[in-house]
Amino acid sequence: MNIRNKMLRIIRTKSSWVGAQKRIKNPLILLLFLIATLFVAYSCRPQFHQGEAIYLKQCSNCHGVDGEGLRSLYPPLKDADYLFENSQYLPCIIRYGIKDTIVVEGKVYAMPMTGFPKISEVDMTNLVNYILAEFTSKNVVLGLSEVKNQLEQCN
Ligand code: HEC
Repeated sequence: MNIRNKMLRIIRTKSSWVGAQKRIKNPLILLLFLIATLFVAYSCRPQFHQGEAIYLKQCSNCHGVDGEGLRSLYPPLKDADYLFENSQYLPCIIRYGIKDTIVVEGKVYAMPMTGFPKISEVDMTNLVNYILAEFTSKNVVLGLSEVKNQLEQCN
């Protein structure tokens, strides 16, 4: 092998090494970008942030910031059997309140809850989605039309 061929071989191996490095780098950057995008998308779920703001303003006084309730006065929402079993009535409960005596996690609650007739359907959708995601194991996201539908069936 003469000196010229040797040089050529070295140059070729070097350049293919650089090429390989580039090929590895690009998918890595792509992956990082993907993770960053997913993270931003996840942390900016807008309807849940708006729902959270409404919850904190309208409901957390009684039901607690974390849905823990308040002694025997206000029932818990977090992991509560009543909410889980009656989740399709949640928009109705919010709009019209509850007057009946109810049993939540084995405890009796007799004080009525006043409804919130002024909460709009869009806000209601955000609020309901926040409550279901935060306080129940239900893996659903309701659309505006589903919430409207549920509201039409209140009695
Ligand atoms: C002034 C206090 C008060 C506020 C504010 C309030 N609630 Fe209630 N909530 C109650 C009481 C009291 C009950 C029990 C009603 C009964 O026994 O009839 C109740 C019951 C409930 C229930 C059914 C029981 C359960 O634990 O699952 C849900 C769901 C609920 N409230 C959601 C909300 C939401 C959502 C908001 C905000 C829009 C809200 N409440 C605001 C006092 C309140």
